[in-house]
Amino acid sequence: MSNLRIGWIGLGKMGIPMAKNLIEKGFSLVVYNRTKEKSAELVELGAKLADSVAELSAEVNIVISMISDDDALKSTALGDAGVLQNAKPGTIFIDMSTVSPKASAEVAEKADEYDIPYLRAPVSGSTVVAAAALLTIFASGPRKAYETSTPLFEVMGKALFHVGEGEEARYLKLTLNMMVGTTAAMVGEALVFGEKGGMDWNQMIEIIDASVVASPLVNYKTEALKQRDFAPAFTASQMGKDFDLALDTARQNDTPIPLTSQIRQNWSAMKAQGMGEQYFFAYVTLLEKLAGIEQ
Ligand SMILES: NC(=O)c1ccc[n+]([C@@H]2O[C@H](COP(=O)([O-])OP(=O)(O)OC[C@H]3O[C@@H](n4cnc5c(N)ncnc54)[C@H](OP(=O)(O)O)[C@@H]3O)[C@@H](O)[C@H]2O)c1
Repeated sequence: MSNLRIGWIGLGKMGIPMAKNLIEKGFSLVVYNRTKEKSAELVELGAKLADSVAELSAEVNIVISMISDDDALKSTALGDAGVLQNAKPGTIFIDMSTVSPKASAEVAEKADEYDIPYLRAPVSGSTVVAAAALLTIFASGPRKAYETSTPLFEVMGKALFHVGEGEEARYLKLTLNMMVGTTAAMVGEALVFGEKGGMDWNQMIEIIDASVVASPLVNYKTEALKQRDFAPAFTASQMGKDFDLALDTARQNDTPIPLTSQIRQNWSAMKAQGMGEQYFFAYVTLLEKLAGIEQ
């Protein structure tokens, strides 16, 4: 474990708590973030700052990225300045972002050419869950690389799975987010309907919480909904991005996903209403507006 030198790319809302957990458990980290200032907290904790992806990749034996989307993954992994070209052969590259199977497969093809074992290891859980090191991590890619990387996953998460050798983890992550986003839409719609009928907000949420329709996700959101606390751990724009990834993938392989398609419209509506950077569970407030409910 002590001979694992880790390069961490992407210090956003998720990257910071995940990288912090590794440092706190004694791993040696080199970090890089496109916006340099966001590295300060990690550098204070002892991480070494790299000036570029290339510099970082040449120095370590495992590179982890936690970045926004397909474009971020492709610009980080590919090209002359990317991870694959600059890492030593045999360096493991783990991308933990939520991206499309298509973009991921492009990276996989290049990784093979450079002899870089490539793991797709997206996560399920919020920023709070990441900080508590309780993420669910599901990886696909070479099993040997997964086994080497397991001590790192154990530091960041509580439930770990190896789900295949190819893009399986990408599909699984989008599957889960389709369900999470659809839950926010379903709960939002039901709450607005109840409000229109004169139900007390808190009591309505308490009863939903105690009923058979409450899932662990609904239970987990209860307090925030009662407080109308929509602090943006994962934004409506980010959920829109994940719905697009699912819709594009489904179009390519002829899978009808009508609910995902319909709910996608309202992530756009939230963006158009200036609510794109709000928490995705603020979906309910969009419907309140449409229903003429004043807060
Ligand atoms: N937030 C959640 O609750 C959550 C949960 C599970 C999974 N995820 C997924 O995890 C990933 C990261 O999410 P996040 O919430 O941490 O996002 P975030 O706060 O928006 O951070 C995004 C990170 O990606 C970097 N980045 C964006 N575009 C880039 C590019 N073209 N080249 C290089 N770096 C780029 C950003 O750098 P700058 O600082 O320079 O902008 C930043 O470090 C996303 O794929 C998201 O869908 C998020």
